[in-house]
Amino acid sequence: MTAVLEEMRRGALLELEKAETLAAVECWRLSYLGKKGAVAQALARIPGLPPADRRSFGAAVNDIKRALEAALEERRKTLQEVEVARSVESGRIDVTLPGRRPLMGGLHPVTKMVREICAAFASMGFQVVEGPEVEWDYYNFEALNIPKDHPARDMWDTFWMDYKNEQGDRPMLLRTHTSPMQIRVMEKTRPPVRVVVPGRCYRYEATDATHESMLYQIEGLAVDEGITLADLKGTLYEFAKKLFGKERRVRFRCDYFPFVEPGAEMAIDCFACQGKGCRLCSDTGWIEILGAGMVHPDVLRRVGYDPDVFTGFAFGLGAERVTMLRYDIEDIRHFYANDLRFLRQF
Ligand code: DAH
Repeated sequence: MTAVLEEMRRGALLELEKAETLAAVECWRLSYLGKKGAVAQALARIPGLPPADRRSFGAAVNDIKRALEAALEERRKTLQEVEVARSVESGRIDVTLPGRRPLMGGLHPVTKMVREICAAFASMGFQVVEGPEVEWDYYNFEALNIPKDHPARDMWDTFWMDYKNEQGDRPMLLRTHTSPMQIRVMEKTRPPVRVVVPGRCYRYEATDATHESMLYQIEGLAVDEGITLADLKGTLYEFAKKLFGKERRVRFRCDYFPFVEPGAEMAIDCFACQGKGCRLCSDTGWIEILGAGMVHPDVLRRVGYDPDVFTGFAFGLGAERVTMLRYDIEDIRHFYANDLRFLRQF
């Protein structure tokens, strides 16, 4: 009889050792110390035993019961400690771990250049205005002395759409330059006019290292009584120095744009080689950066300005080109490929 009890005790303690969680320990408790557990069953057998054995059997079972209860407490304590240690470990904050840097956005290099150029002119009294990217043929071409079939239209091929309304069929297009804003500004205001117009322009273009079908231009326009070519030169010279360094020299040469007369192209002496000739300036010592001219009398007349009273100058430059020169970027397509390895450098 005692051998059976002894076996039960050994088995129970062994099983308890194997219970790895508090839940497993509870299962164990129910099967040994519960109301219908092994100990209770053993005690229930006492009345069926010969009277002489009852006392010692009962004492032996109670011994086992106490032993199991003590072992239970012990095991519970151990597992509780283990569990606390485990949860502390998993929830621990390692204060020595370096923090994660938040990802910071930044301005696009062309945006920065556009702002810098506008700021340079703003400091000379020019106001910054913007206009529509989808434009009427009239503003993009007609009003700028580029009638239908004018050969200059070839230079500014673009994306067209037809717009029909009560006035008939009016051709619309993605503007090829910011020059149409000259007309829009003058139609709305009387001189003096001094504006710069940054914005996107579009061209039907086979893309390559120096051409994109979308580009940023900055247009400038100043109209008042008594404005001369000297004002044009002085203003743009000042601009060149602000953007490319005080020691810059500028060169004006005749050029043709239908909406100005005379028309000019301005170059600066190469800031990389100081005019000696290098890769950046194609060994010429000069870098062309913008087109300009005196506003054509017909353009002034068209917006209701009397060209005998008012004169003005206009200019236009490409923001990507200037950015490429400044940072020695060899391909315009880098700007719009959305490659952060490129963009993060600026
Ligand atoms: N709109 C011209 C272009 O896209 C640039 C330009 C040239 C603008 C001369 C002007 C100007 O205002 O006077 O090529």
